[in-house]
Amino acid sequence: MSTENIKVIVRCRPLNKREISFNAQNIIVVNSNVAQVIVNSPDKSQTANEEHIQQIFTFDKVFGTQSMNIDLFNQSFKPVVQAVTQGYNACIFTYGQTGCGKTFTMSGEQSDEGCISNSFDCIFDYISTIPNSVKIVLKASYIEIHNEKIKDLVTNLNDLPVNESKELGIYVGNLSEHLCCTKTDLQKVREDGYKNRNLQWWALEMLF
Ligand SMILES: Nc1ncnc2c1ncn2[C@@H]1O[C@H](COP(=O)(O)OP(=O)(O)OP(=O)(O)O)[C@@H](O)[C@H]1O
Ligand SMILES: [Mg+2]
Repeated sequence: MSTENIKVIVRCRPLNKREISFNAQNIIVVNSNVAQVIVNSPDKSQTANEEHIQQIFTFDKVFGTQSMNIDLFNQSFKPVVQAVTQGYNACIFTYGQTGCGKTFTMSGEQSDEGCISNSFDCIFDYISTIPNSVKIVLKASYIEIHNEKIKDLVTNLNDLPVNESKELGIYVGNLSEHLCCTKTDLQKVREDGYKNRNLQWWALEMLF
C-alpha cells in the first residue's frame, strides 16, 4: 500500500464529433512520463500574457486520449481494489463536467470494460486464491446521492438516513445488502440498481 491516502488521476478524452464539427482546437498536451497536463493558451498572438501562454499541472498520474480503460485499471485502480482485500476501506470516484468521460471510464464498453467490471474481476480473482477452509462473505449495495437525498437503487427506497455508531462509524441506515457468490451475482445488483437511477441523469446520458 502506498503511503498516500488520496491520489488524483486525470484522463483526457479525444475531441468528440461535435467539437470536431466546429473545428475546436486541442490545447491540451498530456505528458504521462512526468504526470503532467499542459494547457496551452488558445490565444497564440504575441500579445498573450507570458504566464498565460502555457500552464502546467502535475497529478499523481495522467492518461492521454489513446489510453484504454484496462490501462487505467492496471496502473491506478487495481492497487485500490487490492487494498480492500487487505482490509482497507477504499473509494474510487470520477469527477468532471458533463461529457468528459466519467461513465466511459467507470462502465466502459464491451471491447474495453470499465473500472467497475474490472474491479469485480479483481475481487473474484483474489477470492479464487483463498483456501476453501477460509469463509468469505461478499455483499453489495448500490446507492445514489441526488439532491442531497440517499436512495437505495436496488430496493428503490429513497431518503435513507446517515447514521453513526461506535462499531461501524458513519453508515447509511436501512441500506439493503446483497450476498454475491459470483461475478454474475454482482453484475445483477449493478444492473438492477442501474435501472433505478434518477431519470434526469438518464436524460443527460441520452444527450451525449
Ligand atoms: N477516453 C475516451 N475515449 C473515447 N471516447 C470517449 C472517452 N471518454 C469519453 N468518450 C466519449 O465521450 C462521450 C461522453 O462520455 P461520457 O458519457 O462518459 O461522459 P460523462 O462524463 O459520463 O458525462 P455525464 O456527466 O453527462 O454523465 C461518450 O460518447 C463517450 O463514448
Ligand atoms: Mg455519465
